[in-house]
Order: sequence, then C-alpha cells, then structure tokens
Amino acid sequence: MKIIELTKYLLGMYKEHFFVYKRINQDSEIAKNGYEIINNFMPMKDCNQIIEYFKPLEKEKSYYLDSETYYIRRSELNMGKYKLYDLNTRQFFNIQNHIPIIKKIIENKLIEKLFYEKLNINLYVETVSLQINDADLENRQPLHVDAYTPTNFKFFIYLSDCSHPYNGPYTYVRGSHLHNFRKSRSLLKNFVKKNHLPQMELEYSSAEADLILGKAGDGIMSSMSGVHAGYKHHTKSTRYMLVFQLSRDKIKKNYIHAAETIQ
Ligand SMILES: [Fe+2]
Repeated sequence: MKIIELTKYLLGMYKEHFFVYKRINQDSEIAKNGYEIINNFMPMKDCNQIIEYFKPLEKEKSYYLDSETYYIRRSELNMGKYKLYDLNTRQFFNIQNHIPIIKKIIENKLIEKLFYEKLNINLYVETVSLQINDADLENRQPLHVDAYTPTNFKFFIYLSDCSHPYNGPYTYVRGSHLHNFRKSRSLLKNFVKKNHLPQMELEYSSAEADLILGKAGDGIMSSMSGVHAGYKHHTKSTRYMLVFQLSRDKIKKNYIHAAETIQ
C-alpha cells in the first residue's frame, strides 16, 4: 500500500508545482522563499493576555474546555508505528471563542486577506490553536513537510519573544517549497528505508534551515510543503505561539485534530 502513497505524493507534488506555484503571484517573499515574516502583527498586550488566559487552564491530561475548544497534550497522541516527537508540546484548539482579538482576526479575515495579497490565492482559516513548547533538547520533530498535496499554509504568531536561538524558533529551508527533485529523492529514500514519508532528514541537514527569529507579536506566513522543523537547541524559556491552519477549500466545519484521543 505504501507504493500507492508514494505515487500519490510524487504526482501530487508535481501537480501542485505546476497548478499552484507556477500560477501564484511570484513577487512576494513567501512565493520565493516559502515563508515570510510579518513584523508586529499583534500588539504585545494582546499576546500577554492570551498567555495569561490559558496558563491556568493547563492540566495533566488532555480535556475539552467546551464543545469546541480542547486541550491536547502531544504525549498522549498515538502515531501508530511511527515515533512520536515533541512530547512536551501542548495545544489548545479552536480558541477563537475565548479570545475576542482572535475572533476579530477571523471575522475580519485578516489572515486570508494577507495571503491573498501576497499570493493571489484564496485560503480559509481552518483552526486556530495556541501551541506551548517548553525547552527541549531531545525530542523535537526533525525536518519534514506537512503535506505534498494539497499544499497547506499556516500562519504563526509568536506570543512570547523568540529572538534568540535558545528560545526555540521555527526553522525553514528557504525555497524548499519548490525543491521537487530533492523532495522526490527524500520520498524514495524513506520508501526504501520504510520511514515515515514526510520526513526529510535523510536528504536535508538542519544546518540548511533558517532560524526564524522574532519578537512577541511577529507573524510568520509559511507554506507547509516546504521543509521545516522546530529548533533542536531550544534550551531556555517556554515558547507560546498561535497557529492558524489554512486550507485551500472552504471549510464546512472545523477539523477536530486528534480529539478522539481524549478519553
Ligand atoms: Fe510541520
């Protein structure tokens, strides 16, 4: 069955290249590099307010806060035969109804407009989550892509300063959203070695990745078919970050990521 998956990914990647990347606006940084930093997207006071609201709501186990919003401890997820990374990561999903400023960003379609302005494609916010990462030297997910097709995009907002490598910045291999040949080679290597197909560390080294440093409130637009990872040497401070997951299709209803793992 894996050969079907491999073929689907290879065909999907080339299809995306010619039907999406060749047709988008080529002038923006995100079109060229796969990511783009938007400084001062959110005021510092709003960043702090979000952190302070959710801090006391953390618990030892994953749970539902209400019918839509839930808290996931990554360590409780089941990845089947594949290794589970980022064990100390926690996420609050669908937080828009708890935080007026986030609700406003969604209602006013600020992120959709930003992507449309930069890429000239229509995207839709699928979920918004608060991601919390403590320092971690052992368990960060290595370089990978999220998807081959359809290309998905994310918008991150650092809520805490991530201006030093030791704060654990997002890392991204610049231009790798267009590296069809190298990603094809990586897919084939993973296939032969029976690795998880989206992993990229057999083809790329983390030294190739840019460390995307930023202050609290800075946003990052990112194509998730580029090669990316968390930073392996996150030694100090807890990183708080908003993650807006965007879809190319209109959303009928919010995805409930991994909610089935909550007992
Ligand atoms: Fe990822």
